[in-house]
Amino acid sequence: MKIIGTGRANPAKIVTNAMLEEFLDTSDEWIRERTGMTERHVISNEKLEDLAAEAARKAIEDAGITPEDIDYIICSNVVNEYITPGLSCIIQGAIGAKCACVDVNAACSGFIYALDMADDRIKSGKAKTILVVAAEEPTRMVDWKDRSICVLFGDGAGAAVVTEGDALICSRLTTVSKTECLHYVRTLEPTPYITKQEESKPMFMNGREVFKTAVLSSSRDIRTLLDKAGLQPGDIKYYILHQANMRIIESICGQLKLDMSHFPTNVAHYGNTSSASVAILLDELNRDGKLHKGDKLLLSAFGAGFTTGACIIEWTK
Ligand code: UT7
Repeated sequence: MKIIGTGRANPAKIVTNAMLEEFLDTSDEWIRERTGMTERHVISNEKLEDLAAEAARKAIEDAGITPEDIDYIICSNVVNEYITPGLSCIIQGAIGAKCACVDVNAACSGFIYALDMADDRIKSGKAKTILVVAAEEPTRMVDWKDRSICVLFGDGAGAAVVTEGDALICSRLTTVSKTECLHYVRTLEPTPYITKQEESKPMFMNGREVFKTAVLSSSRDIRTLLDKAGLQPGDIKYYILHQANMRIIESICGQLKLDMSHFPTNVAHYGNTSSASVAILLDELNRDGKLHKGDKLLLSAFGAGFTTGACIIEWTK
C-alpha cells in the first residue's frame, strides 16, 4: 500500500497545565518536566464520531478521491459512546461511503495495526482503496481527581487514505499479555443470573512499568525493522512515535544515538491521544510540507495489552 492522503481533527477545548492546577494538587512545572506536555485538547460538547468523520473527510480531500472510491474502512478505537455499532460504521454513514467497515482495538498501537491490516487486504486483492481512521477519547477513561493519570491524556482523531502501492517497506506487530499494568474495566448491564463480583473503575496504569516497557519495546521494534530493511538509523527522515511522553521519545532517540531533528513531536500540545497520536502527527507533518517523495518514515507505538506496532513507510505523495 501507499498513503495518498491524511487528515486530523481535535476538540476545540484546550486545557492548559495552569487550568489543571486549579483543581488538582499538581504544577505546570511537574507536568512539563515529567511529560513534556503544556496543554491538551479535551472533548467537551463534541462527539468523537464527528471528529473521526472530520479527520476522514480531510484525508479523502487530501487524497483527491471521493467517498465512493473507498472500498473498506478500518477504525482504530478503544472507547467511544457506542459499544455497538463500531465507530467505523458511524464514520461510513457520516461521510457517505458504501463499503464494509470494521473497528480494531489494539490500544495506542491501533493505527499501525490498522495500516498493516489495510496492506494485507490490498495485497490479497480484496480492496483497492482503504480509509484508516484512529479516533480516541482517553480523557473519558480516567479519574479526573487522580493527578497521576488525568494530566496525561488528550482527545482527537487522525486519518489516512491508503491505496495500491509498495510503500510499506516492513512492519512488526507484537503482543505480550500483561493486563495488570494498564487496563480500564467497565461493568455491563446486570442480568438476573450474574453472581460474580463486578466493579467499574477508571483506567489503571502503572506509569513507571509502562514507561520502561515502552522504551524497551519501541527501541527493539525500531532496531528489528532497520535490520530487516537494511537501513541505518540516520536513513530514516522521521521517527513518528506514539506521543505518550516526551521523556520516552527522548530515551528512544538516545538509544539510536540520533539527534531530536529526526523525532518530530506534538505531545506538548495534544497530550497522549492514544492510537490517534501517530495519525495526528503524520497529518501535521504532511500539511506542514515536511514530507517529501522518497522520505523514509518509521512509525512506532506501544499500548495496553501490551501491544506494539511499528512500520517503515516510504512517503510517495
Ligand atoms: O499510552 C499509554 C501509555 N502510557 C504511558 O506511556 C505513560 C508512561 N509513564 C509515564 O509517562 C510516567 O511514568 C508518568 C508521567 C506517568 C509519571 O512520571 P514518573 O517520573 O514515573 O513519576 P512517578 O509516577 O514516579 O511519580 C513521582 C512523584 C510521586 O510522588 P512521590 O511518591 O515521589 O512523593 C507522585 O505522587 O510525582 C507525584 N505525581 C505528581 N505530582 C504532581 C504524580 N503525578 C503528579 C502530578 N503532579 N500530576
